[in-house]
Amino acid sequence: MSQHLTIVEHPLVQHKLTLMREKDTSTKSFRQLLREISLLLAYEVTRGLPMTTRRIETPMCEMDAPVIDGKKLALISILRAGNGLLDGILELIPAARVGFVGLYRDEETLKPVQYYFKVPTGLDERVTILVDPMLATGNSSAAAVDLVKQAGATNIIFLCLLAAPEGVARMREAHPDVPIVTASLDERLDERGYIVPGLGDAGDRMFGTK
Ligand code: URA
Repeated sequence: MSQHLTIVEHPLVQHKLTLMREKDTSTKSFRQLLREISLLLAYEVTRGLPMTTRRIETPMCEMDAPVIDGKKLALISILRAGNGLLDGILELIPAARVGFVGLYRDEETLKPVQYYFKVPTGLDERVTILVDPMLATGNSSAAAVDLVKQAGATNIIFLCLLAAPEGVARMREAHPDVPIVTASLDERLDERGYIVPGLGDAGDRMFGTK
């Protein structure tokens, strides 16, 4: 993936995103839409995967047929909202290896602190897709990328549903080698760090916790 920021402008993605943004969309619909949109985003984020060929036999003849090269992908979810995106992507890429990163914000230092980290082995040989629906300040995303790099990943793509310009700038500064794929670049962050116009708290909306 050559660009630092890719916005997936496909009409189905944009239409579903609008339905997700609406404040009266139910938890059930939000979850269903997230599942559907994750499949479309997964299609886009995997567009540049390395390919090779395998000799196969069709009922008609032999051929060198295209297959994805290399080790299985690693999908790493930033807890807890990342899991909503992860579920849909796993439907499309069921053989992917899966990891989780848990971070919370220390209220005194305002810095992200790790509370959980479990990722697949062999990250140095895998394309690693880090998923979190909301790229807001970018602090936890940049910290998650730090951790995944420390675990060996060198080929990382960050996938989110919405990005704020502040988060994109933070990621570009901290990790210029990590391309970002998103359905929308929104206007700004508010004083609490929420994306505007955004869709509210993604975790609360997908899990019905508010
Ligand atoms: N996390 C969310 O869930 N929503 C935002 O707008 C920002 C961060």
